[in-house]
Amino acid sequence: MPGPGQAPSGRPETAILAKKFFIKTYGCQMNVYDSGRMADVLAPQGFVATDDPADADLILLNTCHIREKAAEKVYSELGRLAELSEAARERGRPLTIGVGGCVAQAEGEEMARRAPLVDLVFGPQTYHRLPQMLDRVRAGEQVIETALATAPKFGALDALEAPANGTSTAFVSVQEGCDKFCTFCVVPYTRGAEYSRPAADVVAEIARLARTGVREITLLGQNVNAYHGAAPDGGSEWSLARLVHALADIDGIARIRYTTSHPRDLTDDLIAAHRDVPALMPYLHLPVQSGSDRILAAMNRKYTTDEYRTLVDRLRAARPDLALTSDFIVGFPGESDADFEATLDLVRDVGFAAAFSFKYSPRPGTPAADADEQVADAVMSERLGRLQDAINAGTRAFNAGFVGRRLDVLFDKPGRHSGQAGGRSPYLQAVHVACADADAAAALIGTVRPVEISEVLPNSLTGVLADAAVDSGAGA
Ligand code: 5AD
Ligand code: SF4
Repeated sequence: MPGPGQAPSGRPETAILAKKFFIKTYGCQMNVYDSGRMADVLAPQGFVATDDPADADLILLNTCHIREKAAEKVYSELGRLAELSEAARERGRPLTIGVGGCVAQAEGEEMARRAPLVDLVFGPQTYHRLPQMLDRVRAGEQVIETALATAPKFGALDALEAPANGTSTAFVSVQEGCDKFCTFCVVPYTRGAEYSRPAADVVAEIARLARTGVREITLLGQNVNAYHGAAPDGGSEWSLARLVHALADIDGIARIRYTTSHPRDLTDDLIAAHRDVPALMPYLHLPVQSGSDRILAAMNRKYTTDEYRTLVDRLRAARPDLALTSDFIVGFPGESDADFEATLDLVRDVGFAAAFSFKYSPRPGTPAADADEQVADAVMSERLGRLQDAINAGTRAFNAGFVGRRLDVLFDKPGRHSGQAGGRSPYLQAVHVACADADAAAALIGTVRPVEISEVLPNSLTGVLADAAVDSGAGA
């Protein structure tokens, strides 16, 4: 028989129905999107968000597994939460703790065993079931839900009327999972097989966001340009380009972006969309990972550096001002000095507006993790430093070219100083302008305005509003 305060399973009863939630998000924009949707799932259950974990009845960690020590970081965060949990119990307001996202997916039962404090472990494709999972937690169960089917989640999320949160920009997940199996990457194992949402559902979600004042949409997917969603009319599937054309017609949507793309799936119609659709921003994140054909083959990237360079040429022919950004991995197993020099050459030749670079991190269960020729950490550090210097030089050169020029800026938030407004250029640069006062700054939010760039700072541009308004906040 369960003792007093014990649930039938023998676990202590943890939750009166939790009412305030706090979500800590790790990792990529897809996780940011997922956390927002978790909030949407919780809202109809009477939950409200809090910024203070100490005031929360429910804490969710939305975790990322892409690089080093991901699981260890989650376990140490859980260690810190143990104190909060204890304090909450003493106050008679028990704390429910859940771990979601890719570490939860990968660890599953291991996490439940290693961290008994955790009440629920759920994967990226099951969070739409949070209400049911919380019911089971209340009944005393430690819940683990890590199924990988994607369609049921989107079906459930589409039925929710998410509240407007007053933002001008939004992420919308259109594609999830990956079938590419790059030999370093854990995504195909944590997010599952590639799945594209039906086009009609995406259009409906974005039309709804537009009605709440959203002006810029970033379409998200691990392999977003592999998108092939069911067509609204039951005809042949829509490509990402077809979807972009349809989204550009939605009233209020001024800007469209998409990320992350795989070079192999950058189709002719998508390149043409960069030429033909003014709302499609001249910005593309196109990870190349390495400038060495030998390493690209070992990574199973399915393209050569020549093919990548040709793609860049074709994109720039379609949209000459296109800003390209990328991801790089240094120290992939077997990477020689010559391979690395080839990466530096590629960086200098292409001229990226910005790029992320990472030391290779062996991910358990991926083919490259078992390769013999792992590169020493000191070598990786030295290469990473040189690569980042080359990337930063490219970024400085790219930004410097805008001084004295006009850029259309979508203002989306007050600046750090009073009377300042902040926004993004078409090339995703952060831009700040000074306004007469806070009211004038607030009036800019949600509008696209031309700004004359006067100064380049390390992480942003500064400028002054040019007189003519591009739009007043209505159509594109
Ligand atoms: N080690 C280092 N970097 C990685 N990435 C993905 N997996 C690994 C890994 N095992 C990087 C890639 C990818 C980005 C999201 O993270 O550059 O494009
Ligand atoms: Fe990972 Fe991207 Fe390769 Fe898919 S295409 S396996 S998500 S790096």
